[in-house]
Amino acid sequence: MYLEALALEKKAEQNRELKERILQLKKERNAIILAHYYQRDEIQEIADFRGDSFLLAQKAVSTDADVIVFCGVHFMGESAKILAPHKTVLIPDERAGCPMADMVNVDGLRALKKLHPKAKVVAYINTSADVKSETDICCTSANAIKVIESVDSDEIIWVPDKNLGDYVSKFTKKKMIIWEGYCNTHDMLTIKDVEEMRAMHPNAQFVVHPECRPEVVKMGDFIGSTTGIIKYCKESDCQEFIVGTEDGTGYQLRLDSPHKKFHFATKYLVCPNMKVNNLKKVVKCLETMSPQIYVPPHIADLARSSLERMLLVK
Ligand code: 13P
Ligand code: SF4
Repeated sequence: MYLEALALEKKAEQNRELKERILQLKKERNAIILAHYYQRDEIQEIADFRGDSFLLAQKAVSTDADVIVFCGVHFMGESAKILAPHKTVLIPDERAGCPMADMVNVDGLRALKKLHPKAKVVAYINTSADVKSETDICCTSANAIKVIESVDSDEIIWVPDKNLGDYVSKFTKKKMIIWEGYCNTHDMLTIKDVEEMRAMHPNAQFVVHPECRPEVVKMGDFIGSTTGIIKYCKESDCQEFIVGTEDGTGYQLRLDSPHKKFHFATKYLVCPNMKVNNLKKVVKCLETMSPQIYVPPHIADLARSSLERMLLVK
């Protein structure tokens, strides 16, 4: 017990030193830190902005910092670089990928476009720059329905998340041609997991992200994007929630409502890619100015309009 407390104190001291160094480097480099809600708590703590993929894309455009440290996964850093090509975008660990984004590639998308020549392509922001260069408009889970309705076509090719695709298809009359990708983390959650949690916490509401399987999403007392879930839990009179999204969201949930109880629907709701970033790596990337996100300019030029159109949807 005593040794455990000592180790915790040592870790806290190390983190304090790393945070001070980050503050100093941020000033020297005129940098800001953007952190997704699924990052480790200590990263969210030092961020200039915490948010979902939509808010962070907006911040990348509006900041006057010269350097953006993107604490999230690779496609998020790429989106920032595409939207702000003259800024340096650093990512603390290049291995932070998104398996769902890797489930769709340009060749497959081009083949599907040939089969449906009248369809417009709506791509979840969780896609590579290459795929975005073949896309009419991007969306996030926070604006997917509005984006689909904004598109000037009754036929939509939707990539890559089949679960979110299934959810949004219930809100539109348009014909949706849905790619077969999914998020390895959200897709892990089963009906049984939720039933077991409900039995343990009978007063809790179940709030769920539409990247989960349709049969699990159907069980939700509230269904929404990461930001939607955070807002709902903050404003709701309910005092206890079973949370069906990635566990890093707990940081903001507890910050907003320290007196409420949040139970994560399973210990498996952890995205390992989001967790490879840590404070040491943030220090190192600001010291060495690497790894930097690079998007070939001809791809960035083709991909940019799909992101800019998304940012204009009201
Ligand atoms: P948002 O809720 O930020 O759109 O993200 C979900 C997700 O899985 C990000 O990788
Ligand atoms: Fe990709 Fe899912 Fe991780 Fe988000 S949570 S980065 S969609 S694997």
